[in-house]
Amino acid sequence: MGAIRVAYPIGMDPDAPIGMFDSGVGGLTVLHATLVRLPHEDVVYLGDTGRFPYGPRSQDELIAYGRELTGILVERGAKLIVVACNSATAAALPVLQQESPVPVLGVITPEAHAAVQATRLRKVGVLATEATVNSQRYVEAIHDLDAGIQVTQVACPGLAESIQGGEPYSERTLELVQLACVPLREAGVDVVVLGCTHYPLVRHMLQRELGTEVHTITAAEELAEEIAATLARKGWQRGDDHRGEYRFLATGDTEAFREEGTRFLQLPIGDVEHVPVADCL
Ligand code: DGL
Repeated sequence: MGAIRVAYPIGMDPDAPIGMFDSGVGGLTVLHATLVRLPHEDVVYLGDTGRFPYGPRSQDELIAYGRELTGILVERGAKLIVVACNSATAAALPVLQQESPVPVLGVITPEAHAAVQATRLRKVGVLATEATVNSQRYVEAIHDLDAGIQVTQVACPGLAESIQGGEPYSERTLELVQLACVPLREAGVDVVVLGCTHYPLVRHMLQRELGTEVHTITAAEELAEEIAATLARKGWQRGDDHRGEYRFLATGDTEAFREEGTRFLQLPIGDVEHVPVADCL
């Protein structure tokens, strides 16, 4: 007699994939950490490259995009949605959580938690897009845990674009990194949150400007831990006899996604499926 298969309601099937999205390829840094941490899970990654960048966009636009992308991933059977984008998390996470039939995790809370634990001087820096800085979500999340921490936020307009644009290690990127680090050094922070999923690609550049005694925190590792703990506690992990598979959807040019994405993922990217969305150029 074969094993009895439990019919799980939507989102509860442990064999279902994790759904993950970002404005572009930056979230692949989160995917990389997730694939390393959870090698048995399947993941569908959706890059909204057709509407990149998110940093200069309004909260209303980011809520609309987040809704649409969450809907696509839910339709693909995701058991859990991961918003691997700080700008979208900052603007839209509560709305997505209220409307989604499956749980939605975002990047800001896990990093804020790690920053509060790590700082000895109780001075934390946050580097992020304009949308994320303007939302004040990092300040709120850090102060929810320790209201005495001094938070210095620095918006880095153009940095994600410079990193994603094919020349992440250019003079232009270096100039933007140097500019962003000045107020952080002046504030004497001992912990810096890389509050954009594109920034881990320039972590060494940042670390050189900040000094090695400054601890840098990325979404990738913190969120991978959060995903693992969430699946384990819900009992939704994939069995360890399964080798996890990952696949890609993009709203923009699929070839460009493949080329730019490989650097972020540090693993091969196979076929990329194009998915149409509203307002796409
Ligand atoms: N990766 C996105 C984030 O974490 C932002 C880059 C952008 O689209 O401006 O905020």
